[in-house]
Amino acid sequence: WWRSIEPAPKDPILGVTEAYLADHSPGKVNVGVGAYRDDKGRPVVLDCVREAERRIAGSEYMEYLPIGGSIKMVEESLKLAYGENSELIKDKRIAAVQALSGTGACRLFAAFQQRFCPDSQIYIPIPTWANHHNIWRDAGVPMKTFRYYHPETKGLDFVALMDEIKSAPNGSFFLLHACAHNPTGVDPSEEQWREISSQFKLKGHFPFFDMAYQGFASGSPEQDAKAIRIFLEDGHLIGLSQSYAKNMGLYGQRVGCLSLVCEDEKQAIAVKSQLQQLARPMYSNPPVHGARIVSTVLGDPNLKKLWLKEVQVMADRIIGMRATLRENLEKRGSPLSWQHITNQIGMFCYSGLTPEQVDRLTNEFHIYMTRNGRISMAGLNTGNVGYVADAIHEVTKS
Ligand code: LMR
Repeated sequence: WWRSIEPAPKDPILGVTEAYLADHSPGKVNVGVGAYRDDKGRPVVLDCVREAERRIAGSEYMEYLPIGGSIKMVEESLKLAYGENSELIKDKRIAAVQALSGTGACRLFAAFQQRFCPDSQIYIPIPTWANHHNIWRDAGVPMKTFRYYHPETKGLDFVALMDEIKSAPNGSFFLLHACAHNPTGVDPSEEQWREISSQFKLKGHFPFFDMAYQGFASGSPEQDAKAIRIFLEDGHLIGLSQSYAKNMGLYGQRVGCLSLVCEDEKQAIAVKSQLQQLARPMYSNPPVHGARIVSTVLGDPNLKKLWLKEVQVMADRIIGMRATLRENLEKRGSPLSWQHITNQIGMFCYSGLTPEQVDRLTNEFHIYMTRNGRISMAGLNTGNVGYVADAIHEVTKS
């Protein structure tokens, strides 16, 4: 049956973790996958999550959730993204279901887009998270790209971005990163978001936001929802993917939310029922444990306060590491500018290292990262940042 099958290429991000695990060098460093580590390089379980687990331990049935997932978790997710006092929530205009983290939310939306707008395409930024390509490809939605990042300034190419929005056919679907753009760490400013939103309005484009890092850009989930709130103020009917992998450290629990703003409650009911119909043959219903953790944390004012503090601590540690890496490179007399390390935000630094330089970092220095030059800043700590700076200096100096 399977004789003619060739092995699939390794995943450009998770394949890096595999290679890292297979390396037995004691000084190895993993700045590949976007997963938070503390200053000792250890994975972190947030205190709010431990407390939520303690509260739900033993009280949990292992029953199926509804196809659309935990109603409480979905309600809390909507408040977090759309605002505590959102009129859209009050008017029941949002169709929302629990999703298998950000990937699952994007995939479910892509399947929905394919089913109900079969002639549509999706515009994705260049660059974007590698898995976005796979998600829309496998859902059978044709992809177009739009310019976003400026390789020389290592910042936003706002002029090109606006041109792309203007020249796309009216009513196009666009994938936007709500905050902490992956892999570049480059976000539009608030003013630029306003211009983007107005232009979307003129063109009648549909904005689908992937918000995998709410809280990781500024340290405040509320502040990081700014782009979404701007689009909502302008009356857009947005789509939104939310993930709790990073901001609650629930990577392996696969918990997130997909929501679509509708014209009215009746439409929202219809859309939700169709999302459920798509989900049922894919995975039947989503997992229960992570959803209970999220609803327990966000549903209790004290636990939520603790969570907000812990998100801020994670974001601050990463911001600190940005400054330290830049300082270390400058101290070594690097002739290059490393200002973008501190200009960029979120979990990643899009370093500008070439694939060949990345290969040298891996082969000679046991530093593991994706070949597009993305550094997961969360993998750096006071113990390894000097070593990584030395190695980067070595491969970039000539
Ligand atoms: C990443 O970009 O490293 C994360 O989103 C993890 C993943 O699944 O790729």
